[in-house]
Order: sequence, then C-alpha cells, then structure tokens
Amino acid sequence: MATRRLAPPEVQPKSFDWSADSAVKVAFWLGKYPAARKQSAVIPLLWLAQKQEGWVSEPALRKIALDLGMAYIRVYEVATFYTMFHLAPVGKHHLQVCGTTPCMLRGSGDLIDVCKKRIGHHHHVTPDGLFSWEEMECMGACANAPIVAIHDYYHEDLTAESLSAIIDDLAAGKDVTPGSAIGRLTSAPDGGPNVLKDESLFDGSLAKKIKLPNLPEKA
Ligand code: FES
Repeated sequence: MATRRLAPPEVQPKSFDWSADSAVKVAFWLGKYPAARKQSAVIPLLWLAQKQEGWVSEPALRKIALDLGMAYIRVYEVATFYTMFHLAPVGKHHLQVCGTTPCMLRGSGDLIDVCKKRIGHHHHVTPDGLFSWEEMECMGACANAPIVAIHDYYHEDLTAESLSAIIDDLAAGKDVTPGSAIGRLTSAPDGGPNVLKDESLFDGSLAKKIKLPNLPEKA
C-alpha cells in the first residue's frame, strides 16, 4: 500500500462547503451524537464530502474539522488512514482492486495487469475522466476472491476476462451487475450451497462420547 498523502496544492479547490442536500445529511449525523461527542461523526462527514465532490479535498477536511470542533490534524489522520477516502480526484468509475494475499492467490495480479493496461498507472485518471483504479488491502470478502469494488459494490470471482468485460460495459455507458462473476450464491461453494445437506454433519449424531477423567462414576 502506497503512502497516503493529500493531493498537491495545484489540484486542491480554493474552498469547500456543503451542498443543500449534504447539509441536511450532515445535520442528521450530528443529531445522532451528544453535542460534546459530535467528533464521532467524522467518518460519516468525510463520506458525505466524498459523495458530494467525488473525493476528499484539503478544504473539505478543514470544513469538517470546523463543523466538529476538532483539530484539523485529527480529521487528516482519519482521512489518510482509511483507504475508502479518495485524497485526489478519481475517474467517474473508480476501480478498487484487492491486492491482499487471498485475492492475490486467486488471481488479483491478473486484475491489476488489466487495470494497468486499460487504465494506466495507480491513481491515474484516464483523459476522458472515465476511469481510475487503486490497489486496496483486504475488503473482507476473501471467500469470493478476487474482488474489485466499483461504486461501493463488490464484483467477485473475477478473472482478467470478466474484469475486462466490466470495463468495456462501463466505457459503453452500460450498467454492470455486482456480485459473483461465476454465479456463486453469496459465498457458497461453486455449484450451490450443498455442503451441509447431510444432517449428520451438524445434528450431533456423529459426536463420540467422551469420558472426563474427574467425572464421578454413576451409581
Ligand atoms: S483478501 Fe481480498 S477481500 Fe480479503
């Protein structure tokens, strides 16, 4: 995982403020916490800023710090820690490719190669503004590795071919369907949830009686 820094000054906007729609949501989140604990809303507010602008700029961090009565550095620490926050502008379709061990063992290296070939280097935004990508740490869906998140939804069990097809569809303005690319149901085995059909595997009938060493003999 590369070091996470804010975008350079020439990329930063001069200011940030909440849109009318975001302001309603900000008020909602602030209303969930006691006034003395409003800093607890830092992650939802960072998320709202990202939803509004597409990324989290330095002026947005300062605005959130002001709204929450926090030191700017505390907001900065949260934004730079969590990789779900984009610290620089991203493409309309931002692909987050998991590169942690289970996904890597299941072929995420091939997915990264596709991204490099079709989109460019890490965090590069294509000239038409359509695509960018980044490598992520484990996104918690290892059972269906390898994973790519697009627009907050997981695309699972991918191969170089199925990811290329997704990129083709997005480039053509088509909707793409998240979930398993091979039709797996949630994280069930390939072919369907059939592992526990044999009741003896879970009804206890196969359990062997054990004799505890200090158990008194029954009369
Ligand atoms: S390793 Fe990729 S989702 Fe966990």
